[in-house]
Amino acid sequence: MNITKDIRYVGVNDHQLDLFEGQFIVPEGMAYNSYVILDEKTAVLDSVDAHFGEEWMNNLKEALAGRTPDYLIVQHMEPDHSANITRFLQEYPDTAVVGSAQTFVMLKNFYGDLPLNKVTVKENDELELGSHVLKFVMAPMVHWPEVMMTYDKTDKVFFSADAFGKFGALDIEEDDWACEARRYYFGIVGKYGAQVTSLLKKAAGLEIETICPLHGPVLHDNLGYYLDLYTKWASYTPEDKGVTIAYASVYGHTAEAAKKLAEMLEEKGIKAAVSDLCRCDIAEAVEDAFRYDRIVLASTTYNTVVFPKMREFIDELTERGYQNRTMGFIENGTWAPMAAKVMKSRFETAKNITMLEPVVTIRSALNEASLDQLRQLADALANA
Ligand code: FEO
Repeated sequence: MNITKDIRYVGVNDHQLDLFEGQFIVPEGMAYNSYVILDEKTAVLDSVDAHFGEEWMNNLKEALAGRTPDYLIVQHMEPDHSANITRFLQEYPDTAVVGSAQTFVMLKNFYGDLPLNKVTVKENDELELGSHVLKFVMAPMVHWPEVMMTYDKTDKVFFSADAFGKFGALDIEEDDWACEARRYYFGIVGKYGAQVTSLLKKAAGLEIETICPLHGPVLHDNLGYYLDLYTKWASYTPEDKGVTIAYASVYGHTAEAAKKLAEMLEEKGIKAAVSDLCRCDIAEAVEDAFRYDRIVLASTTYNTVVFPKMREFIDELTERGYQNRTMGFIENGTWAPMAAKVMKSRFETAKNITMLEPVVTIRSALNEASLDQLRQLADALANA
């Protein structure tokens, strides 16, 4: 695939993977992207996952048409991109390897003492290939510390490493970029909003016509749309108005309250996204929590705290710097309801969180008193 006259796509699609990074389901597969720039000198940008070395080398050789690459640019050392560097160097031992200082520390830690023709680069360093001039942009913690990105000044192409990536292979039909890009962003990069914001400021100073990420499709058109979403996500600004309702229920009574609240909100014309934390893909629930401006956590009391899946969900949010949201709480407890107190305490240090009253307390099953609290919570959410 040609990205521009001189830039070729040489990545691969993975439909065998059960869990990306050991935790994210990828029902539409995954793409590991890699690119080649053909000029007086040639540069390869990143390798691919360990299972696809043969296919990648074949793609690479076809694009190189007999030429030996001058540079291998290593933008990110996570093994989904670096696993085939050793194989590449067996084939092309004289190719110079370009990376940040930390890239070479990680390269040694992962793959041992390789004989390397190293080119260490830092912020704004440039590399001339002929007519193409590459400028390096350091992007620490997007999403590892060694990450750098590459701007082709000639073709105005920004090679963005993990940023602007998404779940999903490239040989399936894509209907909505944002859905799987959002789940990917908050699952993988969500904690590093400040670093992504800093990257976006650097990107704003570049004239970009094409974004080439290491996962997901190459982005050509309407780049403002993607940049706008990234600006919101990185600043923890809610993307849409609505209420995420995440519940953990044992016998169905807490679930009933969560669903009843969703009905009450929908009657008021408010979008409600409901997740059963014991059964859903938790990454989808995390995505919804960051997407909408309001959230309700509903949990049964368990071992005097909260149900395990709710504890896990709260960890997922707080570890990613959850902030700027309005929260409501529903607790259930047959003899000693404690869940709301525990859930609230977990967000005490989170920034800019508004906690609504009343807390809905169910003692075993909904009754007139708890239904009334639920109506009051629905009103408070509508007015928030
Ligand atoms: Fe696609 Fe952070 O690796």
